[in-house]
Amino acid sequence: MMASEEHPLITEYRNWSQESERLSRRARKVFPGGDTRASAHYDPYPLVMEKGRGCHLYDVDGHEIIDFMNNFTSLIHGHAHPAVVGAVSEQVAFGTAYAAPSLNQIELAELIADRIPSVEQLRFCSSGSEATLMAIRCARAHTGKEKIMKMEGGYHGSYELAEVSLVPYPESRGALDHPSSLPVDKSIPNSVLEDTVICPYNEPELAKALIREHAVELAAVIVEPVLGSMGMVAATTEFLQALRSETEELGIVLIFDEVITLRLSGGGTQAMHGISPDLTSMGKIIGGGLPVGAIGGKRELLQIFSPDTRENVFHASTFSGNALTMAAGFAAMSHFTDAEAKRLNWLGDKLREGFNLILHQNGICGQAIGLGSLTNLHLTDEPLHDSRDTLKGIAAAGHISRLLHLGMLRRGIMSAGRLMYCISTPMGEDEVTAAITALNETLIELRPFIKQERPELLAM
Ligand SMILES: Cc1ncc(COP(=O)(O)O)c(C=O)c1O
Repeated sequence: MMASEEHPLITEYRNWSQESERLSRRARKVFPGGDTRASAHYDPYPLVMEKGRGCHLYDVDGHEIIDFMNNFTSLIHGHAHPAVVGAVSEQVAFGTAYAAPSLNQIELAELIADRIPSVEQLRFCSSGSEATLMAIRCARAHTGKEKIMKMEGGYHGSYELAEVSLVPYPESRGALDHPSSLPVDKSIPNSVLEDTVICPYNEPELAKALIREHAVELAAVIVEPVLGSMGMVAATTEFLQALRSETEELGIVLIFDEVITLRLSGGGTQAMHGISPDLTSMGKIIGGGLPVGAIGGKRELLQIFSPDTRENVFHASTFSGNALTMAAGFAAMSHFTDAEAKRLNWLGDKLREGFNLILHQNGICGQAIGLGSLTNLHLTDEPLHDSRDTLKGIAAAGHISRLLHLGMLRRGIMSAGRLMYCISTPMGEDEVTAAITALNETLIELRPFIKQERPELLAM
């Protein structure tokens, strides 16, 4: 293949999705790069969807696709769950947002507070980004300190601090015991880098030492209990416990970012680990498919938002607690029980087992990791315990992971471009088996190309 020629498997994808390609050319005229959301984009162009129902998506070329992406883990019930459709239809006839309290706000807040013991009070907002931002502002106002510690490879939304050191580039990330604060792009001001202390993930002793070193200036430590964007690396209980004990002793606010992980059990990962953070940021599943966020935690901390508090933190936000999201969220969360979370986690275990077996049988380096209903496929056999490891894996896989993603799509399985899969409640063993079968067929198709283009991915 000449360098300028298109890869035959990309041509295959184009032939299979001609209407999507036609629309993507049209989209390029109005959207930079043809898309309106970086995370949902993949090359050569993403499939254009027409509708969704249950665990299926239907694209404009007429393909039925099992949706293992679920809008980046947020659609716990997949698409158009009857209870959510009913609640939203009923509510929309009575208006969408009142800029006034409503009963369904209180009901959803009570449901969440009942399930998560560390959440005594909460505030709704419109996105997970806003939830982590408000948690940080709460911690700063409460402690009177400015710096925030975040994890290397951690993602907390679409604003500057939330993305510092999202990608730990090897040439500039520094030593593991003192990682550098890296801008994810040229939009990040130096002042934000200076206010952000980066902590290595899953390294309890190094984390403790860093927290001690910066204690006088640290307002908060924020952590994802499963490192999502960088490949679903689960934190160990020992690591989270180290963050808890050290912050507690030093008067630093500990924030669990459970925007993704709340789907893993009724009480989130904090219930699974038996650790109680001071604040929890939430989003995704609690909105029933509509835009949402929430910050919850100890009453004494949340009081900083109270209009009754002198020098309160001003949290406004036009669509906070809007009636439509509240109705959808309450319906979705009422139908998401602890037993369902366990079933989805069990299906997630099956998916990882199946993927790992297929990789092994096909003699391709790789592993499926994750926790419960959250899975990420990595084309490397090296151990993966932080974002430095997963980044190394991404580099080693090169363009093969992109071809794998497109190959799975052609076989009716949708994941995130970074090969993240999650389970929704309409799924059962049949869907998991379909994904495992699709991986087998995709690897059989890919093998000759791997042999020629990336032979180091062939297992010895
Ligand atoms: C862990 C985590 N925190 C925060 C966010 C930001 O949420 P949103 O995209 O709703 O702003 C995300 C989004 O994927 C996330 O994964």
